[in-house]
Amino acid sequence: MTGIKILATGAAVPKALVTNEDLAQIVDTSDEWISKRTGMKLRHHAKDGETNLDLASQAARQAIDRAGIDKDEIGAVIVATVTGDYVTPATACLVQKELGLSNDIIAFDLSAGCSGFVFGLETMRGLLATRDHKYGLLIASELLTRRVDMTDRGTCVLFGDGAAAAVIESSNDGYASVMGVDGNPDMIKIKSPDGYIEMDGQGTYKFAVATVPELIEDAVKKSGKTFDEIHHYILHQANLRIIESIAKKIGQPMEKFIVNIDKYGNTSAASVGIALNEAIEDGRIKEKDTTLICAFGAGKTWGAIVLG
Ligand code: UT7
Repeated sequence: MTGIKILATGAAVPKALVTNEDLAQIVDTSDEWISKRTGMKLRHHAKDGETNLDLASQAARQAIDRAGIDKDEIGAVIVATVTGDYVTPATACLVQKELGLSNDIIAFDLSAGCSGFVFGLETMRGLLATRDHKYGLLIASELLTRRVDMTDRGTCVLFGDGAAAAVIESSNDGYASVMGVDGNPDMIKIKSPDGYIEMDGQGTYKFAVATVPELIEDAVKKSGKTFDEIHHYILHQANLRIIESIAKKIGQPMEKFIVNIDKYGNTSAASVGIALNEAIEDGRIKEKDTTLICAFGAGKTWGAIVLG
């Protein structure tokens, strides 16, 4: 199976930081509740005038610069998002213009909730096989705080804004993926372009701790490796307790899990991409390492990919 190689990554978050204490000024919550129940301390909120395109292009520019490629060789742009600046056109098309990419490309947005980055990797793998260009640009960019009811303590404390990007090429490096969908609008939904997130928090929590360990096991098995041979586990940053429970169930130490939920909250599609970027930046993930990336969310959707 032809796999993919991530040549370089980038990330971007809005400047404005929102603490648990800030949120406690708005709704009936506390630093203690949020920290204990979720592991979150900070998140970034886009302010007036900041757009999804701003974050997406900032993250993408960083990834392209770091990859050191000729941007004319990018043949596909996917932006995983459910919070584009427009219903149409797609953010990916705006990125093409903003970054001055070739016109001879395919560019579209992908809606898979928090699984967006993982679905995007798998989609890009297929796309690259059909394109003449060498590289694909995957971006996951969400301004979910625009779709959060700031009077609903059940959701407003959880989400943050951010974007991640990756420059990708086809490769014969190890690649194994397991994806899935079980159509269910009630777990997490936004009913209209102006609507707010409605979430069955407990249902999502139970789904994640029950299903994700098996998902990871299937992906690891498919890769021909063992849990111990995976150097890093990057799970969707939805709740620290979910990550800890999954680590325990698969018998792997928390040190192998990349966790940054304390700094960003849940950035939906961008969360695993931001974590990947951070771990590459700080040297935890090295060139030859094997990394498992796994996410789950609205749809219901889920996916796990073993890279390397
Ligand atoms: O990325 C998409 C995927 N999303 C997720 O994976 C989210 C998964 N779910 C979760 O992370 C957790 O279910 C939550 C963090 C959303 C909620 O934690 P929980 O431990 O499941 O709390 P709960 O919903 O069972 O609520 C317990 C109590 C309730 O009060 P009562 O009924 O016991 O009096 C809630 O009203 O906590 C209350 N509560 C809060 N209290 C203070 C809910 N939100 C808050 C809050 N501050 N922000």
